[in-house]
Amino acid sequence: MRFLRAAFAVFFFCRAEAADAEYKRILVQPGQDAVEVRLPLTDVTGPARVKRMEAAGVGIPVAPTRIRLDDAAFIEWQIGYDTTDPRHWSVAPGIEFERAGRKKYGCELSKLLAESRRLGLLSETELRAVRQQLDSLRAATLEDTEKLTVGPDTAPGHALPEGFARYVERVPIFEKNTPCGRIEIQLKQKQRAVGYQAMVYACLPLAQWRTSDGSARGPGAARSKETVIVRFTRDNVSFLLDIVRAFGIASREHNDDLRKILDALLAL
Ligand code: ADE
Repeated sequence: MRFLRAAFAVFFFCRAEAADAEYKRILVQPGQDAVEVRLPLTDVTGPARVKRMEAAGVGIPVAPTRIRLDDAAFIEWQIGYDTTDPRHWSVAPGIEFERAGRKKYGCELSKLLAESRRLGLLSETELRAVRQQLDSLRAATLEDTEKLTVGPDTAPGHALPEGFARYVERVPIFEKNTPCGRIEIQLKQKQRAVGYQAMVYACLPLAQWRTSDGSARGPGAARSKETVIVRFTRDNVSFLLDIVRAFGIASREHNDDLRKILDALLAL
């Protein structure tokens, strides 16, 4: 009896946990004349985080339920394009490729592209043109040509105790601004290897956020577990191609992956 009670408790706990985590899932959903992506506002440790653009031009993370989100707010989405899980909720059916002997399935950006193609928002000609651009961008990617630098701090400051001197690390950030949002490429030092790793972020401002009924989300603090929708239509679908080009510029590995994804998409 005690065993049964414990088993029930574990079962209901796991179900509650799963329901709790559902809002964190980044979902790519095709509509009639648009592809929509649903993003969480309050998953502060996930790939989509709310930040606020400060006067200095840098985005600062905020506690979305505790401040009034206004026009300076944006979602910084570390948009993915692949997964090793064929049952992932945002997988793109039919887009498969290999990297270093491992099978990968297209996901998120791949699904956005595939659904845009299916709905006729992106033409085969446009996709072929970007595929060609990726070939030429591969020769000199940011991961190969750019670097972080460290130097003495030239700004006047107070002396440090115990013979310490202040140095400053300069980390390049690459940005492209579009009417739909901003794309950022950041170089980070690799965690367990030598060299740099290029991270690509799609930064989506509050002006692009909608509620589930399609109306503008508008300003205001986030509700607990709130999600918002961003729509890609014929008018702003070129943003997705800008993201593809960003991966193509960022690193050879991303460039290779995106070329395989576009080849698979064009062969569908
Ligand atoms: N790999 C897949 N998506 C990525 C992203 N947005 N930035 C860096 N590496 C990635």
